[in-house]
Amino acid sequence: MARALSADELRTLYLSFFKSKGHAVISGSSLIPENDPTVLFTTAGMHPLVPYLLGEPHPAGRRLADVQKCVRTGDIEAVGDTTHLTFFEMLGNWSLGDYFKEDAIRWSYEFLTSPEWLGFDPACLSVTVFQGDAEVAPDDEAARVWKSLGIPDSRIHRLPREDNWWGPAGLTGPCGPDTEMFIDTGKPACKAGCRPGCRCGKFIEIWNDVFMQYNKKADGTYEPLRQSNVDTGMGVERTIAMLQGLPSVFETELFASLMAQIRALSNGASDKPGEGVRAARIVADHIRSSVFILGDPKGGVKPGNIGANYVLRRLIRRSVRYAKMLGIPGGYTKPLAETVIATYGHFYAELELHRDRIIGELTAEEERFERTLADGQKELTKLIQVLKEHGQTVVPGRKAFTLYDTYGFPLEFTEEWCSENGLTVDRAGFEEAFRKHQELSKQGDKSFKGGLADNTGATTNLHTATHLLHKALQMVLGSHAQQKGSNITPERLRFDFTHPDKMTPEQVAEVERIVNEQIGRDLPVTCEVMTLDQAKEQGAMALFSAKYGEQIKVFTAGDFSKEVCGGPHAARTGELGRFKIQKEESSSAGVRRIRAVLEKP
Ligand code: ALA
Repeated sequence: MARALSADELRTLYLSFFKSKGHAVISGSSLIPENDPTVLFTTAGMHPLVPYLLGEPHPAGRRLADVQKCVRTGDIEAVGDTTHLTFFEMLGNWSLGDYFKEDAIRWSYEFLTSPEWLGFDPACLSVTVFQGDAEVAPDDEAARVWKSLGIPDSRIHRLPREDNWWGPAGLTGPCGPDTEMFIDTGKPACKAGCRPGCRCGKFIEIWNDVFMQYNKKADGTYEPLRQSNVDTGMGVERTIAMLQGLPSVFETELFASLMAQIRALSNGASDKPGEGVRAARIVADHIRSSVFILGDPKGGVKPGNIGANYVLRRLIRRSVRYAKMLGIPGGYTKPLAETVIATYGHFYAELELHRDRIIGELTAEEERFERTLADGQKELTKLIQVLKEHGQTVVPGRKAFTLYDTYGFPLEFTEEWCSENGLTVDRAGFEEAFRKHQELSKQGDKSFKGGLADNTGATTNLHTATHLLHKALQMVLGSHAQQKGSNITPERLRFDFTHPDKMTPEQVAEVERIVNEQIGRDLPVTCEVMTLDQAKEQGAMALFSAKYGEQIKVFTAGDFSKEVCGGPHAARTGELGRFKIQKEESSSAGVRRIRAVLEKP
């Protein structure tokens, strides 16, 4: 029988288990990464440890264990099911060039199944291992160790890279095959061939052992790392849900008070199967993440339109939308935040410490969004009037998307309003616009006001590459290398710039190298709206003259380039692929022209 442990008990047990195996317990890091422009939040326990995975000695030794707060918004649309969360706690043990597959897997198995520790029935355990591909051989060793522990072949699944590979965080860096551990909930299989990795909810992944033995290089090849590392991650919320035999993470003690409060505030609307339950989970998850982001010891993240600030804004606003759907009255963020602080304050002292900041920012953003919603309503009223005057009965999907994207106006609201006025919304058109936008903003760090629906991914990436190229040309040739023209098709970019001479092959190679280096750093690309003067003050390259005081957009690629531009842009430079200059030629007197492409990585 699995032991019905609480989160507090699980953390303690995990750390003492790995202490007994010679690990030093270190404290988890801030949610907001230190000196790392490539990620907005700490998304895994390995992030703060990258230098040590690459070989730098860690002061606490070669065996480490900790509890790490993580924020991941890549799966935000999945929140509302039984396991996905945007904030979660990850238990991790590391070997920095010390033990490897054999010990890592044996200890995982012992901790999971020994009655002294978690006591899961070994018959409930299924695992996956890397099946191998053209670049890296199958992980037969991991499979062998699982087998030697008594897991039969039928529960050792060999899966491809999409499932069983971790990292690198950007385009380059430490990475390797992993082996993932799943608990079979006992639910009936959704179909023949339902297996770990299937999203039906039968198999729940609770732990991942990554064998970081490769360094991915900028040219896309893998070289063995100097040391073979182990990086593991066990999800606290999922593991206690499985130990306690609960149907979802939202029934655990970590969410119980929050869910009860949402039920009361919504007069039971949160119980409505399907929509109601999903909305309540989203409200709970997003408020909890926002509390941890605002309460982080490092501080500095506030709701805004750029980078991590934008992620926070999106979480809060999304929660407000779903709270409204449930009929929860305004001002709800404060009591919910207080519950999160009460639930976690004893373990995360920073939440108590920053209580005022957390509640102040949440309340202010909730109020701001209320006002934005009011503006959206005005827009919609106007739109309905115009459509009616023209005898139209359908609101174009594009318009509904603009309301959603610009005013954070939920489609469901738009539909409600329209139906009261005898109009319907072109849902398919909305979804098409939404899907295009999704493709462009997978990482979630776009401007809230990006009118990006009409652009394909290819031209978007070339647009971002143009900025990197412009900056690289100035670094190599000098600040006189100013943009004279730019033309982008889905296949290539063309860039004209002032420079008196033909570029040498060395200069071309160096420009190419710098651009690819910045792509390899996977810099976040963000957008901010400001006046031209503010932009110039911040050192942004301005290519066209805007009127005094006019609001313009400034795109920033990490710490590398800052430029006034209409967009659209990739969310991160890592999405671009390999940059290649095909031609450098004369355009007109004193102006050179470059043609360049992005190759698939
Ligand atoms: N870094 C691995 C993960 O996050 C353990 O799954």
